[in-house]
Amino acid sequence: MISTRGKGWANFYFAHGNLNNYHATNSPTGPVNFLFAENWLVHEDLTEFINTHNKFDSQLCSYGEGYTGTVRLRAAMAKHLNAHFKPAKKIDSEEITFAAGVTALNEASALLTCNPDNQEGILLGGPVYGAFSRDLTMRTGAILEYVDVGDTEQFSPDCVAAYEAGFEAVKARGVNIKALIICNPHNPTGRCYSRETLVGLMRLCASKGIHLISDEIYALSVFRRDDGPSEEFVSALSIDPTGIIDPAQVQVLYGMSKFSMDLAAKFLDDQEYVTKFLEKSQSLLLRNRLIAEELLDQAGVGYHKKGNAGLFIWLDLAPFLPVGETNGDGWEAEKLLSQRFAQAGVTMSTGGQYHAPKPGGFRLVYSFPEDALREGIRRYASTFKGLELVR
Ligand SMILES: Cc1ncc(COP(=O)(O)O)c(C=O)c1O
Repeated sequence: MISTRGKGWANFYFAHGNLNNYHATNSPTGPVNFLFAENWLVHEDLTEFINTHNKFDSQLCSYGEGYTGTVRLRAAMAKHLNAHFKPAKKIDSEEITFAAGVTALNEASALLTCNPDNQEGILLGGPVYGAFSRDLTMRTGAILEYVDVGDTEQFSPDCVAAYEAGFEAVKARGVNIKALIICNPHNPTGRCYSRETLVGLMRLCASKGIHLISDEIYALSVFRRDDGPSEEFVSALSIDPTGIIDPAQVQVLYGMSKFSMDLAAKFLDDQEYVTKFLEKSQSLLLRNRLIAEELLDQAGVGYHKKGNAGLFIWLDLAPFLPVGETNGDGWEAEKLLSQRFAQAGVTMSTGGQYHAPKPGGFRLVYSFPEDALREGIRRYASTFKGLELVR
């Protein structure tokens, strides 16, 4: 008989992926899926790289170099981090360990910081990457404590006081916080944390004796905007911890979502290609973001304007929530609106899934071929009462 725990895991959401997504010619009526942070803008380039770098050595079929990543992969990643993350101290390959994706690294971070069944937990602000609530808890027994740091100001140094107050309030309830997790650049707003905020958070973690876990999976998606200020990405690795925090209390997570080790090593080793690839990726992201913003402006939809990283826009659909149909309950109205989008053939993550402090937030992923982006936004704008279709 399967265990209760096993039964829970067997009901894992999205086990079989998506079928029949929108495609202009092959599946024009299929759903436009704005749910997942996938960068379709560079799939062709990646495919070409993979197809031209796919000669495997038979050595790779053995246990070989153990579980933490091949020597070549860890060396290539060290080279990559030293080239792109501006570390305060040169990173050595011995300081790097690999797992099968950042999802697994997040889970490992919770396993390594929190004891199960001991009221131990991790602090985080909201809105924030919705799957943290699954990845950090499902198999770990860790408790997540979401702190209200304000919808937009979780990036300013003011958030430090909010986290401190949250830490104390949670402690008074008997939960022992062992770590603070941030996502920088941030999912879902696409904002980068300033150096000052990061130093403040490190000082807070040092004073409470907890870890700072910085999920930096979107580190190299940052693009520079010409029409306003763009926050620079500052990695936690680039801050000299001397006099601030014990470096053993800071973990940085980064990954190349969905890459196998050997290919990842070949890719990271070829930094000339990586640099060109990233330049192209960032300019395509900016182009699509501007298209999405223009369509949203036409539709009269508000959104978080300061994002200059990641693959998503954080929408403010609070004015369009059908609260009249849910007895004024905003969260129920958000679910209802989400169902209406699905009926219209377009899906997005909701503020509820992202632990937003108030209802109405939706995360729109814009890194899709332009026709799918336009079709998706047209479909969801068409569900708002009283709004004209976006053309
Ligand atoms: C903040 C964040 N961390 C981790 C992941 C997942 O990483 P991986 O695909 O490497 O497991 C995602 C993917 O959406 C993410 O947004």
